[in-house]
Amino acid sequence: MATDLQGLLLVGFWVVSVQVLNLSEAQEFSVSVRENVAVGETIFSLPGTRSGQEAELPCAKMEGDPYGRFNVKENCTVVVANPLDWSVQPVYLLNIRSGVGNTTVKVELTDVEGYPPVYNETCETPVNPDRETGDFMYSFDVAWEVVTVYGDILSGRTFPDFSPNTQWQPWQLQTDNSNCNIHVVGYTDHIDNLVALQDLWNNDIQQFTCTADDKTPKLFVNLYSLKFGESSALDRLAMHVPESIVKNTNLNFIIMISLSFPTTEARLYRCEIPHFHIPVKPQQIVNIEYLDIQIKPTGCPQEKYGFLCDKTCICKNGARCHGFNGACKCPPGWKGVACDIPKQDVSITTTPSDPRHIYISANLTFHCKAHHVDVTYMSVRYPNATEDISVGLTKIDVVVPNIQPTNSGPYSCQVRDTRGNTLNTTFVLNVTNCAPDRKGAGCEEVCDCLQGASCDRWAGCVCPPGWTGTRCQTKCLNGTYGKDCARNCSCQNGASCSSSDGRCGCTDGWYGRDCSKPCLNGRFGQGCHGVCGCKNNATCSNVDGSCACVTPWTGRNCDQWQTSRDESLITNLVILPSLVFLFAIGTAILYKTGSLSRSAPDAGEEEKILLELRRMEQDLAQSLQPGWLVRWEKKARHLTPGPLIGLGISGLVRKAQLRTPEGELAVAAKTVRVEDSQSYRDFYREAAILVAVHQQRNGDCRDSNIVRLVGLITKSTEKYILLEYAPKGDLLYFLRQKVDIDEAGLLGSLLGYAVDIARALQELGRLRIAHRDVAARNVLITADGVAKLSDFGLARDVYTSTQYVRRDTPGVDELLPLKWMALESIETGEYTCQSDVWSFGVLLWEIATLGKDPCYDGRAQLSFLQMVGILRQGKRLEMPEGCPEDMYGLMRSCWRDVPDTRPTPEGLEERLLQLRRALALPQQDVIEMGTVV
Ligand SMILES: *[C@@H]1O[C@H](CO)[C@@H](O)[C@H](O)[C@H]1NC(C)=O
Ligand SMILES: *[C@@H]1O[C@H](CO)[C@@H](O)[C@H](O)[C@H]1NC(C)=O
Ligand SMILES: *[C@@H]1O[C@H](CO)[C@@H](O)[C@H](O)[C@H]1NC(C)=O
Ligand SMILES: *[C@@H]1O[C@H](CO)[C@@H](O)[C@H](O)[C@H]1NC(C)=O
Ligand SMILES: *[C@@H]1O[C@H](CO)[C@@H](O)[C@H](O)[C@H]1NC(C)=O
Ligand SMILES: *[C@@H]1O[C@H](CO)[C@@H](O)[C@H](O)[C@H]1NC(C)=O
Repeated sequence: MATDLQGLLLVGFWVVSVQVLNLSEAQEFSVSVRENVAVGETIFSLPGTRSGQEAELPCAKMEGDPYGRFNVKENCTVVVANPLDWSVQPVYLLNIRSGVGNTTVKVELTDVEGYPPVYNETCETPVNPDRETGDFMYSFDVAWEVVTVYGDILSGRTFPDFSPNTQWQPWQLQTDNSNCNIHVVGYTDHIDNLVALQDLWNNDIQQFTCTADDKTPKLFVNLYSLKFGESSALDRLAMHVPESIVKNTNLNFIIMISLSFPTTEARLYRCEIPHFHIPVKPQQIVNIEYLDIQIKPTGCPQEKYGFLCDKTCICKNGARCHGFNGACKCPPGWKGVACDIPKQDVSITTTPSDPRHIYISANLTFHCKAHHVDVTYMSVRYPNATEDISVGLTKIDVVVPNIQPTNSGPYSCQVRDTRGNTLNTTFVLNVTNCAPDRKGAGCEEVCDCLQGASCDRWAGCVCPPGWTGTRCQTKCLNGTYGKDCARNCSCQNGASCSSSDGRCGCTDGWYGRDCSKPCLNGRFGQGCHGVCGCKNNATCSNVDGSCACVTPWTGRNCDQWQTSRDESLITNLVILPSLVFLFAIGTAILYKTGSLSRSAPDAGEEEKILLELRRMEQDLAQSLQPGWLVRWEKKARHLTPGPLIGLGISGLVRKAQLRTPEGELAVAAKTVRVEDSQSYRDFYREAAILVAVHQQRNGDCRDSNIVRLVGLITKSTEKYILLEYAPKGDLLYFLRQKVDIDEAGLLGSLLGYAVDIARALQELGRLRIAHRDVAARNVLITADGVAKLSDFGLARDVYTSTQYVRRDTPGVDELLPLKWMALESIETGEYTCQSDVWSFGVLLWEIATLGKDPCYDGRAQLSFLQMVGILRQGKRLEMPEGCPEDMYGLMRSCWRDVPDTRPTPEGLEERLLQLRRALALPQQDVIEMGTVV
């Protein structure tokens, strides 16, 4: 720094004194620049430029930059004008006229690893002048078949595209030209896609693999959850996307597809997707039978590159630009990153240039050309050692008519320049092909191929897959397919087999990749869309739905059926929304048909829901005055839904604006997709509890520790619970942002939140309502830092299967927060205020561990039986590191076997306040001592 300053002062001195003292030496500055510095960037400003003389003699570049890499502005700043390349020229000595003197600026480039980008021929994609909007560097063809929980078989082909307004946003393509690797990263904010991804995540499908025909190359699909993902996985993601994205929990999920694609040919990948253990919504998919992805390089138009062909090439002088990374392949005579620096060179090219057009009997012209060379003489040398020499020319064209195999061999072009240097280059000609449509040793036979097949001199017609015969006139025989009909079809049960790719077209009643699986669940017919009507234990034919009656039953009852779908549904499914290909797992899963989801629940189920609801209202009878639902009703048209802030399957939460007489109010709007009884029950239970809490307080819930109810919308198709909006998110998220529990005052302030929740439990206790899911994830932090209990049942499907476990009792389908549940709740399904206290103990444990997932016995995932076993042995969550003994003691008391011996919510509040005081005490001492001194 000090020397810079001296230099600066010196310049000032020199400039003033240069004429007086008539010193001849010039000033020299040195600047170091990374070779990949962006064009347009300022790399140097001449210090101490005198303003007075500036106008008369502005700064100007004099010499040292023959190829215009830099611009010198009038105010003496040096700006990069064209791409730099260390390997071409590492140092520039710029002579700059400044004022009345001269200044030399030495620009030293530093070598940057991975720059310039490598041009790898192996991964090059074609140039495609016909590209249309929505096409991209590769084209995808996805074939899939899925099974729904109802037994429907859905299948289709998808050709995903990236036109604007598709449901997937591809973000970024990272390509690695050293190994032809491609990473595509994308996200979606379409709700159906999100729901399906959430389900995949809950199914623990976070990665799957697809294998290509030739077995070795693989394609990997990774699903990352930005909310619930493990940090190690997110670290891996961060290698491919900016950190700001990895930290953006609003995005929910990111999908990354990775593959190595060292070929210019189409390639088919077959994906292996694990079985689901819970159905994937919105279509209730229980299995993916197959998912095949064919990828074909289609290429970008000239001057463009990148996965979306949206980046502009910098290559000059007709250089080819690599589709992956925009690296330039310089034509002869040019060098540098952008091929814009002249290079002394000699080249030899041919007309025609495409080797496929060089065949026996063609006329071939060789062009020998010197580039940026002062030529003295030039010569062309033939394979037979004769030489053509010309003096003074920079270009020789030689025509060899009617070429024959004997003309094969090296053709060299040599140039000598005025300084006596020689440059040479060689082209090796290999004449083996016959003219188009000709074959035979003397190229005398005609091929006359069909199906657009090409003609080979020795092999004759080279047929496309599915065709055979000397002229490709014959389709593969039944049971074979592919190139040369060499592969055997595996299609069963009378299915048709595509002769080109071996895909099976199943007959009625069968499904699967090879049509070997009969329809499930009393379904039959095409796509298993027929519903069997067989009664009295009759077996139903999967093919036509006919019933084989069990004696003594006979008659029509056995053969009645109705079709549940019409053909239009099937055609609809084929035209799937455009998705990024892989996302096609998505595709298969995600497409919402509406009619499918409407098929659940059936009429009997609905009766049960009503009964259930009546029972629940009786539970809350003391607090719910008649008409409770109507009193809280708001109008759907007053609600403007905004961005998604929380997501479940039965429920999801958006930030929204509600128009009220007092003005616009930001609310959290919870929707329920009334599809099944569980979500329906949960919705009304949550609404009823919140109304009860509010009525108890005569509607004034300002200082309640239960989330404030703003209103309900039940009289529209989309039903909403409107809650106060808590901008700080949930406690679990808040805890996970913290790093160190020993941070001064942190535990104390976190215990403040625990106190808030203890108060919420008191409120619920007074109403004799159990929350059933007290956990950090269900606690919201309001704008003024108050913790409030929320989520009375709609959020559980948001969380991973390590947090909620499916109870495997037949007929009962619910996800339960096993590791937060009291022993008696697990064993008997009974929830009380005391069982909420148990969960509260786990919440304390979450606080003390800054949001770790509770882990019993070293296992993250446990079944109901295992959990009961562990708890019955008296094992409990271990004492977290850095947790005060007293606090752990309090947790243990919440986890006592006998519910009545656990502390009351009032007792909890008192103990927590004591704990807080104890934590604050030593600090107070220090402060007091500080003030005394
Ligand atoms: C020099 O002039 C250029 C425009 O010619 C301007 O962008 C730049 O900011 C100026 N730099 C200084 C140091 O004045
Ligand atoms: C500055 O450089 C130019 C070109 O190199 C030269 O013609 C001129 O004489 C130099 N002026 C001084 C003052 O050195
Ligand atoms: C080009 O890609 C291929 C295929 O992965 C690789 O083997 C080769 O080393 C790469 N070439 C260069 C120059 O990086
Ligand atoms: C080659 O040139 C000769 C004479 O110019 C012409 O007759 C012949 O058709 C040409 N051959 C081909 C294959 O174009
Ligand atoms: C050598 O080959 C060239 C081009 O094929 C031909 O013009 C020339 O006559 C040949 N010279 C001899 C000596 O055969
Ligand atoms: C071309 O140049 C290489 C080395 O630069 C040399 O080995 C070779 O002999 C030359 N070929 C001819 C035909 O002059």
